[in-house]
Amino acid sequence: MFSMDFEAGRTAIRRFGHRVGARAEAGDVIALVGGLGAGKTFLAQHLAHGAGVSPTVRVTSPTFTLVQEHAGRVPFVHADLYRLGDVDELREVGLFEANAGAVVVVEWADRFPEAVPRDALWIDLSVLSPSIRRVFARGEGERAGRLLGLSPTGGSA
Ligand SMILES: Nc1ncnc2c1ncn2[C@@H]1O[C@H](COP(=O)(O)OP(=O)(O)OP(=O)(O)O)[C@@H](O)[C@H]1O
Ligand SMILES: [Mg+2]
Repeated sequence: MFSMDFEAGRTAIRRFGHRVGARAEAGDVIALVGGLGAGKTFLAQHLAHGAGVSPTVRVTSPTFTLVQEHAGRVPFVHADLYRLGDVDELREVGLFEANAGAVVVVEWADRFPEAVPRDALWIDLSVLSPSIRRVFARGEGERAGRLLGLSPTGGSA
């Protein structure tokens, strides 16, 4: 298990997103959790830029399209499960299977955790004050460790 827990303003979230995005590789899944306005889309935008999506591309909440893909160093797929009806719909779309060559970032992933790959990195955002978020990131396995820049012994790289 790899985990990180910290408090962050917008600048720290931006930096964290850039760092994690820069470490992303095809097949990585980043599951974002947090209530309305927690900052999931804000973080997704900076994950995208870290993964090489042009800074001129505005990553918005893909609530009405379910999935948006952006070109980057690796293809960047951004999904939002807020309005998805049920898990069968998600399986029909094949979000993870169809995008094995991309990094997949999923807002509201906790709506259907059973459909999220086991080696996903989960990032939980909660509002501490209007500008400060608590970030709790965790995951099993090597992908999560690499994304967080952590070694199995707990050191930070
Ligand atoms: N420290 C912070 N980290 C992230 N976002 C912040 C922070 N402080 C303020 N914000 C602001 O919070 C607002 C809501 O963020 P965002 O749209 O990313 O939330 P969301 O979790 O995607 O919400 P929704 O579930 O409605 O899509 C944005 O205007 C963002 O700029
Ligand atoms: Mg959003």
